[in-house]
Amino acid sequence: MAGVKRNILVTSALPYANGSIHIGHLVEYIQTDIWVRFQRLMGHDVLYVCGDDSHGTPIMVNAQKRGIDPETFITQMNQQHKEDFAKFGVAFDNFYTTHSPLNRELSEQIYLRVKDAGYTVRKEIEQFYDPVASTFLADRFIKGTCPFCKTPDQYGDGCESCNRTYNPTDLIDPKSVFSGATPVLKKSEHIYLRLEPARDFLVKLYEAGFVDPSVANKLKEWFAEPLRDWDISRDARFFGFEIPGETGKYFYNWFDAPIGYLASLGNKLGLDAAKTQKYWNDPEMEIFHFIGKDIQYFHALFWPTMLNAAGLRVPTKLAIHGFLTVNGEKMSKSRGTFINASVYAKHLDPQYLRYYFATKLGPTPEDLDLSFEDFAGRINGELVNKLANLVSRCAPMLSRMLEGKLGVSAADAVPLLREIRGAADELAAAYDGRNYALVTRTICTLADKANKYFEDQAPWKLVKADPEAARGVLTAALEAGRILTIYLKPILPDFAAKVEKCLVIQPLEWDDLQEAMEPHAIHPFEHLVQRLDMKLVENMVEESKESLSQKSDAANQAPATATAAGAPQPTVTTPASTASAKPAAPAHPDEEPLAPIINFDQFLAVDLRIARVLTAESLEKSDKLMKITLDVGHLGQRTILAGIKKAYTPEKLVGRLVMFCANLAPRTMGKFGTSEGMICAAGPGPVEVFVLSPDAGAKPGQRVH
Ligand code: MSP
Ligand code: ZN
Repeated sequence: MAGVKRNILVTSALPYANGSIHIGHLVEYIQTDIWVRFQRLMGHDVLYVCGDDSHGTPIMVNAQKRGIDPETFITQMNQQHKEDFAKFGVAFDNFYTTHSPLNRELSEQIYLRVKDAGYTVRKEIEQFYDPVASTFLADRFIKGTCPFCKTPDQYGDGCESCNRTYNPTDLIDPKSVFSGATPVLKKSEHIYLRLEPARDFLVKLYEAGFVDPSVANKLKEWFAEPLRDWDISRDARFFGFEIPGETGKYFYNWFDAPIGYLASLGNKLGLDAAKTQKYWNDPEMEIFHFIGKDIQYFHALFWPTMLNAAGLRVPTKLAIHGFLTVNGEKMSKSRGTFINASVYAKHLDPQYLRYYFATKLGPTPEDLDLSFEDFAGRINGELVNKLANLVSRCAPMLSRMLEGKLGVSAADAVPLLREIRGAADELAAAYDGRNYALVTRTICTLADKANKYFEDQAPWKLVKADPEAARGVLTAALEAGRILTIYLKPILPDFAAKVEKCLVIQPLEWDDLQEAMEPHAIHPFEHLVQRLDMKLVENMVEESKESLSQKSDAANQAPATATAAGAPQPTVTTPASTASAKPAAPAHPDEEPLAPIINFDQFLAVDLRIARVLTAESLEKSDKLMKITLDVGHLGQRTILAGIKKAYTPEKLVGRLVMFCANLAPRTMGKFGTSEGMICAAGPGPVEVFVLSPDAGAKPGQRVH
């Protein structure tokens, strides 16, 4: 084991209890589980805790739709989530819930200390109110006719028919879902967490490695402007915890959700609220939060501010990953690529997905794509043909020809085995740095060499002339297979367990790789991994296709993304990757209707900038796209994929000033790469497109107001 024994608390984000676990979620839970298993394999002490995020309006709505109370609903979801994770080998030490007495106590105590420290402020806002039921109305509790497509009976935050989002004030003939009354605007006091006092603390935190440097630079952009206070209260009716000292006010679920990390820890260890906080504060313990990039604002801005104001230590590091796309596109119910974990597990081996995600995961929050062709290619080409091949060919051969008895590795295998063992430190560093793509690449290269050794030595021929030489070759090949299995164990625990059984050895640990196996008899071979049959993928996609009848009963479906209608939104001005971005319905491009009215804050949330075109390249393989690099002054450079190939030649663009949206969430466009913004242009396209340029004097990096 390398160095000092570490004591690490690891968390994955708490999934919303309002929907099922899908393969997008699994990116995170598999990524975290691999890391946890690796640290344990190295002999470190790790606690891996998680749980459901069980509060909020969508949960209330979903429970109501099913005619059950929210408590029953979240209990069912909790059970379902646990079962789903278990199928994929995601082995939490505790999977708890934010709706628990311990979390309530922790939330109250933390809130009161934050308040005493002067970090809260009260403000009056205007909100919809049901005068008959005497209750404030969250967007989801108002229904009316869609202002765009005129479909009746749509929620206050977006239309399920045309997928557009709007404010409840835009609905035609809005009604409260409780009483049917027409809502009225009413003033209400809300409680806000002040972030500005934490500014210096936060900047220092990023500089000290709280996030990776690439992310830190992005986060620092938030500090160019005053940090806006964050609304942490919600009015009744709400499913959550009441705020102490208030009546009819509840904690916004993003307030008590991260506190759920502490609650899950305390619950696991049987500690009360005070002792849980003491345990959390242990400076010897490292704390790693694994999260998706969509929720980094909450974890990098609000959460450390809350902790610090409450006198609690902040985590060691945020490990941030990107989003999953399927076949180059956002997961889609109609295409059948919005695949629930339970549906996947019905059709395909969960080990495939663990392996595939590993090949795609690096240390940066880049999006990753599950393309079914690539998936099949890697599973059959790498997992089956390279990694499983060695043991699954050698073990039965040894059993058949040489009574299953291992001997001493052949002398000519010494360089091979030395090379395989020699990769240990590099692989450990890659695992620790979450570079699983590098891990799998390295292991595959080593497996290629081991397979080549086996083929070159041809023990099946050698055995006739010299059985002991053949035993030496097979022993060496199985030794190679055993070491590679140690390397793969965090990714493929089931595979490793089968190899251990087949080779009749104790559960493998990282330290076991230096010592050779003692000569002993092995068991007849057990099947390690099945070849992947594309037909099974097709069946899975077919089952995931949402039929029309299912669509109206979407209660058991998670929102398409964490930011879909109903999911909590941050209320600070931050880059737009958290802004709700449902695609607009196609309209005739030249007669597009007016978009929903926005307020000034929403306008400010769109960050338009001046930039200069540095390079432009028409992409040969695309009939629309041009790849453009922009110089954005102090904001650096951006690569944009713009659909203007038919209207412009590169020469017409290079050197020219343009205007572009700089805080649009990066979008992966299949094999063409990722677009980091959008250049402003008018016209219906694709031939009639007019790129907008400012008058002379504007400078790259300047904001457009
Ligand atoms: N409840 C909040 C987290 C609270 S943590 C104190 C939440 N829940 S979620 O269910 O929407 O998402 C849980 C995790 O799964 C998040 O880290 C999110 O980034 C991740 N993913 C959800 N969909 C994903 C993809 N399509 N791709 C990759 N990760 C995804 O956010
Ligand atoms: Zn509509």
